[in-house]
Amino acid sequence: MFRYTDYLPYNKFPTIVEGGTPLLEDKNLAERLGLNNVYLKNEFQNPTGTHKDRMNPFIVQRAIENNKEIVVAASSGNEGVSLAAYAARAGIKCIIVTTDNILPNCKEAILATGAEIIFTKTAFERWEIIKKHVEEVNWFSATNYMNPPVGSSYFGVQGYKTISYEIYEYFGDNIPNYLAIPTSRGDLLFGIFEGFKELNSLNIISKIPKLIAVEPIPRLELILSSKAETNNLFEGKYSLTPSVGGNTVTRQSVVALNRSKGYAVSVSQEEAILNTKELSKSGIFLEGSSAIVYGGIKKLVKEGKIPKNEEVVLIMTSYGSRNSYGMIKEILR
Ligand SMILES: Cc1ncc(COP(=O)(O)O)c(C=O)c1O
Repeated sequence: MFRYTDYLPYNKFPTIVEGGTPLLEDKNLAERLGLNNVYLKNEFQNPTGTHKDRMNPFIVQRAIENNKEIVVAASSGNEGVSLAAYAARAGIKCIIVTTDNILPNCKEAILATGAEIIFTKTAFERWEIIKKHVEEVNWFSATNYMNPPVGSSYFGVQGYKTISYEIYEYFGDNIPNYLAIPTSRGDLLFGIFEGFKELNSLNIISKIPKLIAVEPIPRLELILSSKAETNNLFEGKYSLTPSVGGNTVTRQSVVALNRSKGYAVSVSQEEAILNTKELSKSGIFLEGSSAIVYGGIKKLVKEGKIPKNEEVVLIMTSYGSRNSYGMIKEILR
């Protein structure tokens, strides 16, 4: 990411050599989806196994610049593993606030760095604990602790712009018209939007691709069709795709979708199992929370929202080793 420091919050930040992930053409998936071409951006090839490694260097650097002694995150797993690694590299204390549902391998990866874990009963309580400590004892939070929620630290979200820069470097001004992104709070979605918006305003690219938020329950989908507001609580099941779960949305997601003229599409748990299974059978074993991009695009092609002669970039955020036992059981059934 050091190649892009002119466009990032810091030119010095802790690094474990993140970014520069492969962008690969997959004709097999294109055929399965009935599209002209499909490209995979393999973010799971970052050092701790997810795209989060583009965000946390800037969050840790911001914490250090602010003389904070402890950096924290509310996380179901992936963010916790990544933040703990970057905090360790920078030599700053890290606490991850999570629930009992965290995967054993994520828990181990966090503890191995020397970080601490605090367990709460519910995901919402994670925010309450962090809020209290941010206000009372000067913790620096990487992630949201407000309700209704906002995105993660804006310094960190800027790191995701580098995904857009790398996509531009590959395609030049011929970036495919559609980019599918697994979405929870929309940090990744918004960061990618910001990257393309900057390239567009500098006249480096002539248009911003349509961003497609793929979610496990209708949240953004309802908002875009004016059936809900950003401060609503959304219902539905997402226990098999916890990394993109949650019953809230953020305004940044809505902005990214509206301004890129994109869509939101939801993929149910049953569909997520089928997507993860189908991708596995084609040789791509992903975390269900990431595999839903495949299902989301499948739906949009079927509905005619994406024409068959189009090309799509799928952001693959996390490998299958991050699946819960519940998801593995379903895949192997
Ligand atoms: C596997 C995976 N995909 C996608 C996301 C995107 O989430 P967000 O929309 O909050 O940036 C996350 C975040 O936790 C994740 O762990």
